[in-house]
Amino acid sequence: MKKKTYYITTPIYYPSDRLHIGHAYCTTIADAVARYRRMSGYDVFFLTGSDEHGQKIQRKAAEGNVTPKEYVDGIVASFQQLWLKLGISNDDFIRTTEERHHKVVQAIFQKIYDQGDIYKAAYEGKYCTPCETFWTERQLQDGNCPDCGRGVETVQEESYFFRMSKYQERLLQFIEENPEFIQPVSRRNEMINFIKQGLEDLCVSRTTFDWGIQVPFDSKHVVYVWFDALTNYITAAGYGQDDGKFEKYWPADVHLVGKEIVRFHSIIWPVILMALDLPLPKKVYGHGWLVVEGDKMSKSKGNVIDPVGLIEEFGPDAIRYFLLREITLGNDGNFSREALINRINADLANDLGNLLHRSLNMIGRFSDGNLPPCGELGEFDKQLQDLAKTTVAQYETAMDAMDINQALKLVWTLIGRTNKYIDETAPWALAKEEAKREQLHTVLHHLAAILRVVAILISPFMPHTAPKIWQQLGLGDDFAASLDDAKRFDGLPVGKAVAKPEPIFPRIEEKKEEEAKTSPVAAAKTAVKEKAPEQAAEISIDDFAKVDLRVVKVLAADKVKGADRLLTLTVDLGEEQRTIVSGIAQHYAPEDLVGRHVVMVVNLKAAKIRGIESRGMVLAASCDGKLAVVESSLPPGSKVK
Ligand code: MSP
Repeated sequence: MKKKTYYITTPIYYPSDRLHIGHAYCTTIADAVARYRRMSGYDVFFLTGSDEHGQKIQRKAAEGNVTPKEYVDGIVASFQQLWLKLGISNDDFIRTTEERHHKVVQAIFQKIYDQGDIYKAAYEGKYCTPCETFWTERQLQDGNCPDCGRGVETVQEESYFFRMSKYQERLLQFIEENPEFIQPVSRRNEMINFIKQGLEDLCVSRTTFDWGIQVPFDSKHVVYVWFDALTNYITAAGYGQDDGKFEKYWPADVHLVGKEIVRFHSIIWPVILMALDLPLPKKVYGHGWLVVEGDKMSKSKGNVIDPVGLIEEFGPDAIRYFLLREITLGNDGNFSREALINRINADLANDLGNLLHRSLNMIGRFSDGNLPPCGELGEFDKQLQDLAKTTVAQYETAMDAMDINQALKLVWTLIGRTNKYIDETAPWALAKEEAKREQLHTVLHHLAAILRVVAILISPFMPHTAPKIWQQLGLGDDFAASLDDAKRFDGLPVGKAVAKPEPIFPRIEEKKEEEAKTSPVAAAKTAVKEKAPEQAAEISIDDFAKVDLRVVKVLAADKVKGADRLLTLTVDLGEEQRTIVSGIAQHYAPEDLVGRHVVMVVNLKAAKIRGIESRGMVLAASCDGKLAVVESSLPPGSKVK
């Protein structure tokens, strides 16, 4: 059977400068959608690229004393490296300076001219070079570009014009009949209002610079950069060069673009396509802007965030997760380092990392490190299976609607529920009774089965992490699961060995963060040793003997909701297991503690902390909160004297 196709594009970026985190945001969304469609069985064509012509680039190159081509070559190489580092899975990268593109632009310019929809006339108007956009006097705001607020230049040239006005009614009718065409709906309404004010013919050539594609029948003119740029979407799909490919992928399923360029994509581009008698794209989706600490990114403000530095510091998947989870598609969103670290620690290190670590640890200890079979289902197992099933169904609905944010929320609800399931089923308690062996294995089986589903569901967002989870679960080194695999809960190869758990997202220590932000002088000051605490009053050996100190093994650890400093620990005392609350959350991630042997005061009077009864206290150094860890060969319950 022929596969359904899916063609998704990002804007092609101007190589006037290196890309920032806002550009990475757009490409990451497109990548997540492309990967999701691939895993849903589509034959996907995912395109990104660079928009290399125009006055702005020509000027920049001149400032740097290089040719425009030399200038763009260097920057475009940095785009491609960035996408590689971020795990972007584009199927093609189009550069508007390529021969294949020149041919198409010239061919369509000629065709539209021949049919009388492009004509020559004198042009006098306003031009915003940073936006490469023409404006009429009436569209300016206080004499400036209504998009970016910068000054405009007066342009007086003989130019070619594209008869946009002729297509106004057809375009309006199309937008009105296809409510899905422009999304979100707020952008759609804006566009309808814009068109209703009247479409003017568009100036589509320039003569005052030459860094562009020549008009085929008039060598004094270069094609207007937006006419050139928009055409990339059909060039890459094979228009005029590979009919089979073009028929397969065109019309595009979605052009994903930033909100300020929706107008070009939902007005100029459709009219070009109408003039060419080609079908229009199915959707233009305008996403919001990423701002930094509430402010627009700009060089002059010095707040431009370089994605390469962030990827090197936190890894590509943490950055991808943050961008996709933190911002609702269509709305503006804020980037802050603090919010990024919070997300990494809470969602990735704690919720996901901890679930994986605890589960693998317990499979290691209670099932000889092999994926255990599933026995008869208990109430909690059934609930968990039901949730997994509805999660996959709702995830699919959300992703089909490009509601990435919602899809991620659903997956994290499942992760949270599964962490709770561990506490409810207490596998360490089941392990004590031979009669509960089947039940124990059923619980461990469910943990691995949920992690398998989670790995599949997060794979479009975190393509480096999903294979790591897969491999640690013993499911193989090559991750190639489909969405249908996530619908099957029984896909576990029972009996297969799991791997040694390796942390997938190390916790980012906030203390280190603080140090990183301070100057070397301030850092040096904090490094000065604290004064030793005063020694307490002398006690007799009998006094000391009253304190019952034991070696205990940490079986499970979890954060306490709403308390930054607290963890609940389930510890093994040899004869019994206990829960205690410990104020060490700022020094340890829960998964770092599981399996450690530490010293605990076992006869400390019980206390209720945040509603949890704590029976005992683990010993830690007061200066840095580090636990008194002992040899793991010491059996739990051993007395410390
Ligand atoms: N070259 C044109 C696009 C031509 S598509 C046929 C262009 N290039 S751009 O490099 O200026 O911008 C490319 C995309 O990056 C736009 O969709 C824009 O919205 C997006 N972003 C630029 N800054 C951004 C943020 N701060 N946040 C999110 N996206 C932002 O326009």
